[in-house]
Amino acid sequence: MPIMPSDSLLMMPSLTHARSYQAAVEEGYQPDPAAPKLDGTPASLGAHLVWLNEQGGRVVLPDGSMTERMPHVQLWLTHAYTFIGRVNIRFRLTPELQVWGGHIGYAIRPSFQGRGFGTHLLGLAIPTARAAGLSGLLLTCLDTNIGSIKVIEANGGKRIGSGPHRWHPELTALRYWIEAEG
Ligand SMILES: CC(C)(COP(=O)(O)OP(=O)(O)OC[C@H]1O[C@@H](n2cnc3c(N)ncnc32)[C@H](O)[C@@H]1OP(=O)(O)O)[C@@H](O)C(=O)NCCC(=O)NCCS
Repeated sequence: MPIMPSDSLLMMPSLTHARSYQAAVEEGYQPDPAAPKLDGTPASLGAHLVWLNEQGGRVVLPDGSMTERMPHVQLWLTHAYTFIGRVNIRFRLTPELQVWGGHIGYAIRPSFQGRGFGTHLLGLAIPTARAAGLSGLLLTCLDTNIGSIKVIEANGGKRIGSGPHRWHPELTALRYWIEAEG
C-alpha cells in the first residue's frame, strides 16, 4: 500500500529515521543548507541532527554576513520509519527573515513530491505554530515555485506582496500571510 499524506505525522527529528533521511539525501533531498554536512559517518549524522534543533548562536546569510539564529523548531514529516520531509517554524523574525524566509520553511523529499504531502505538512504545521503562540504566519516563496504557491494557497495563504528577491534581484519573491488563529 502506498503511503498517503493522511498516514503521515510531524515529529522531532530522530535517529529512528536516520537511514531513511540519508536515503532521502541520496535521492536529492536538500537538508537545511547551513546544517553540518553528512559524510556517511555516525559522527556527522549526530552533529547534523543536534544542529537542526540547536537554539541560539548565529547563522550565515546568503551575502556572507552573520545574524542571530531565532528561536525555532525543525519537525519531520514521517510515516513509521520513513522520512518524508521537514518543516522549520521560526518563532521570532529578524529583519532579514521578515523580508525573505518568514516563519515557516519546508521541503518534501523528491520521491514524495506531487502527492499531497507538502499541502498536508503545512496543514499540520499551522496549528503547531498557533499552539506555540504565533497568531499569524509570514511565508515567502519564489514566483516560479508553483508547487509551493499551491501549498500555501491551499492552506489559506493570502498574497500580501511581491518584489525582487533581496539577494537575487533577478528573481521575484512572493510574500504570503496565513492567519494561524483558527
Ligand atoms: C514545494 C514543495 C514543498 C511542494 O510539495 P509537494 O508535496 O510536491 O506538494 P503537493 O503534492 O501538496 O502539491 C500541491 C500542488 O502543487 C502542485 N505541484 C507540486 N509540485 C509542482 C511542480 N514542481 N510544478 C507544478 N506544480 C506542482 C501539485 O500538483 C499540487 O497541485 P494541485 O493542488 O492542483 O493538485 C516541494 O516541491 C519541495 O519540497 N520543493 C523543494 C523545496 C521547496 O521549494 N520548498 C519551499 C520553499 S518556499
